[in-house]
Amino acid sequence: MSDPSKLIRPIALRRVILDNNLVLAPMAGVSNLPFRLIAKEAGAALVFTETVSAKGLVLGGEKTWRMLRSAPQEKPVAYQLFGRDPEILGEACRRLEAHGAEWIDLNVGCPVKKFILNGAGAALLKEPERVAQIVAKMRAAFSGTLSVKIRVGWDESTLTGVEVARLAVDAGAELISVHGRTRAQQYRGKANRARIREVVEAVPEVPVLANGDIETPDDAFAMLEATGAAGVMIGRGSLGNPWLFRETLERAGQVPSRTRNAAENWNLIERHIDLMAKYFPDEHVLVHNLKKYIVAYAKGCPGATVFRDAVQRSDELHALLRLAQDFFRPRQVA
Ligand SMILES: Cc1cc2nc3c(=O)[nH]c(=O)nc-3n(C[C@H](O)[C@H](O)[C@H](O)COP(=O)(O)O)c2cc1C
Repeated sequence: MSDPSKLIRPIALRRVILDNNLVLAPMAGVSNLPFRLIAKEAGAALVFTETVSAKGLVLGGEKTWRMLRSAPQEKPVAYQLFGRDPEILGEACRRLEAHGAEWIDLNVGCPVKKFILNGAGAALLKEPERVAQIVAKMRAAFSGTLSVKIRVGWDESTLTGVEVARLAVDAGAELISVHGRTRAQQYRGKANRARIREVVEAVPEVPVLANGDIETPDDAFAMLEATGAAGVMIGRGSLGNPWLFRETLERAGQVPSRTRNAAENWNLIERHIDLMAKYFPDEHVLVHNLKKYIVAYAKGCPGATVFRDAVQRSDELHALLRLAQDFFRPRQVA
């Protein structure tokens, strides 16, 4: 494999330079503001929001706008929109720009049925020309950085990733992220690096982020090497392991190496919990949302299964925090 120090490098765009090429993926229900701040602190150069409805945003839904809360420390942040109406997506961009957005991303990859039935997300992979129309409207409405996230195709007989990426760039997209699966695969099988490479080669004038199945620094290096992509986008591998960003930078010699210990782990988990408490003032909602992170942090630790069951059964904040402390907080040595 190539020298990792050569694979990890900044990405320069028209308006922004990313310090490195490790990026947090958009994940509905996961990449909210607290998690983005944690990923950023851990070394991600760019973070994507959860996907947000362009229509909801234009119609002024309070819940939608709440999902768009940001903080200066997380910048640059890419706001991801979903929808299928070019006019509405253009208008959503206009409003987001007025709200201070500097980066907007279009979701052309979400495989969830609710999206597909509405012709949004990955359904747009079946309509490359429509993607071009949408991106053109977004481009006309928005002066910041514009990107598009795709899959390699709809299914094995509709591998439109290359065409969609090309049309999106021609219409004004400045960066493409590509998940190396088709919509039909959902999350099954493996992300196909050769197909990601085809997308990289089809749009040589813009950076491409390669996405899918990066769980370790070596996965990131292998993905960069196999695809020739400018960077990698990391989703599930960072849930419960935001240290993945820092460890990848360390392995590439970009930041000093240091051994992680239980105390540092707990510091980050505790900080994540505090940020969540600030972001979700309603205790019921907080408990519901905290559980997935707390369970994820325990993955792979001895006793994780018993801990997970106890976490799932607990529906009271103090009980949940006590469980987390008992499990993660290092014992004081007398
Ligand atoms: C819980 C979850 C939520 C996701 N939500 C979104 C989303 O809102 N928008 C999007 O473009 N992709 C979404 N994805 C897809 C991820 O961004 C990413 O493409 C996919 O998980 C593959 O990368 P990974 O193997 O690193 O997780 C989601 C994935 C997961 C697991």
